[in-house]
Amino acid sequence: MEEVVERSMFNGAQSNRMSLTGLHVTTAGGSYDVIVAHDALEHLPELLRALDLRGALWLISDDAVYPRYGPGIEARLCAAGFAVRGVTVPAGEASKDLATATRLYDWLIGGSVERRDAVLALGGGVVGDLAGFVAATVLRGIALVQLPTTLLAMVDSAVGGKTGVNHPLGKNLIGAFHQPRLVLADTATLATLPPRELRAGWAEVIKHAMIRDAGLFTALEETGPAVQGEVLADLIRRAVSVKIDVVNIDERETGERMLLNYGHTLGHAIEAAAGYGELLHGEAVAIGMRLEAQIACRLGMIDATVVARQGALLTSYGLPAAVPSGITVDDLIERTLRDKKVRAGRVRWALPAAIGAAAVRDDVPETLVREVLAAA
Ligand SMILES: NC(=O)c1ccc[n+]([C@@H]2O[C@H](COP(=O)([O-])OP(=O)(O)OC[C@H]3O[C@@H](n4cnc5c(N)ncnc54)[C@H](O)[C@@H]3O)[C@@H](O)[C@H]2O)c1
Repeated sequence: MEEVVERSMFNGAQSNRMSLTGLHVTTAGGSYDVIVAHDALEHLPELLRALDLRGALWLISDDAVYPRYGPGIEARLCAAGFAVRGVTVPAGEASKDLATATRLYDWLIGGSVERRDAVLALGGGVVGDLAGFVAATVLRGIALVQLPTTLLAMVDSAVGGKTGVNHPLGKNLIGAFHQPRLVLADTATLATLPPRELRAGWAEVIKHAMIRDAGLFTALEETGPAVQGEVLADLIRRAVSVKIDVVNIDERETGERMLLNYGHTLGHAIEAAAGYGELLHGEAVAIGMRLEAQIACRLGMIDATVVARQGALLTSYGLPAAVPSGITVDDLIERTLRDKKVRAGRVRWALPAAIGAAAVRDDVPETLVREVLAAA
């Protein structure tokens, strides 16, 4: 039940084309394949048919991604006999709100969406979370297929079933768990991703290596960020395997899934203190990982060589080191105490125990955190 297995979506009789190897997610909320491959979108029609998704398809994307990939996907699906309709929302985090969700409900319900239909979410984490939430709630839930086009979405947000929108009082406060029927990540789409967005995605890949896969960490050191083709697809597969592994064990974020928060306790605080939009999420997480590794070092969980090796890797992938100027220690401490992961007044930190291993600690003295922040 709790496992990551590799398996082929096709057996030889069904397709003489490239065999797509998928990772498999198994949770109480649903089981599905995660396929990561160059030009994977070419296989979308046969994959949907293999899942017995035969109703209408509702393609939701944003206005930066759709013009690049939407028409090709629609043409391929139409040629294969699917009824497909597309819609776009403005690119950016501001679209992840209830007003945009309502416009999508209007579009779906006005177009007579049915229970047997499916939503296809084509884009980064914003589209995945928004379209996923709409799929989770319209008609009490219809099928969802995630087609992630950012590195962050491929290794993180498209997998795990968390969907939702922001509320004016905070991010991701309204949402639902809704597992997709398939995650199909076409690594060819990363060629058009703005370089800064790509770098921010690498922060999550490095985080996954740090918490659970020392071999991936070494591979990232060896390849560097200019990696492409099958080697890139393989790194992404390994990074997403970490997320799958954790989600399979802990669908609703109680124990194991907390480890994915490495770098995020201080990362969230820094992102918010800098003002949303100043730092990309992945950039803030990279700074958070550097600081949280120092906390782990002072607790005696890791030695200074681990901190240095992680720092060198983050730097080589173009990720920042400095906390933006003007942010005070008090401000960061205050924001950290307001974090969702605080339980009974104690901050629960996901901290590295080695390269490739992490542990949750709720006994980190505030004075120690202050010392690390003051030194930064
Ligand atoms: N559900 C989860 O478990 C989870 C986990 C982590 C993050 N998230 C959420 O993910 C969101 C961030 O996702 P993101 O970093 O992917 O940002 P995003 O979706 O805003 O995408 C970043 C930018 O890149 C553009 N873009 C995307 N793919 C492109 C491509 N292939 N070519 C050219 N441009 C492209 C988008 O239009 C956008 O402007 C946040 O809202 C965050 O809360 C969710």
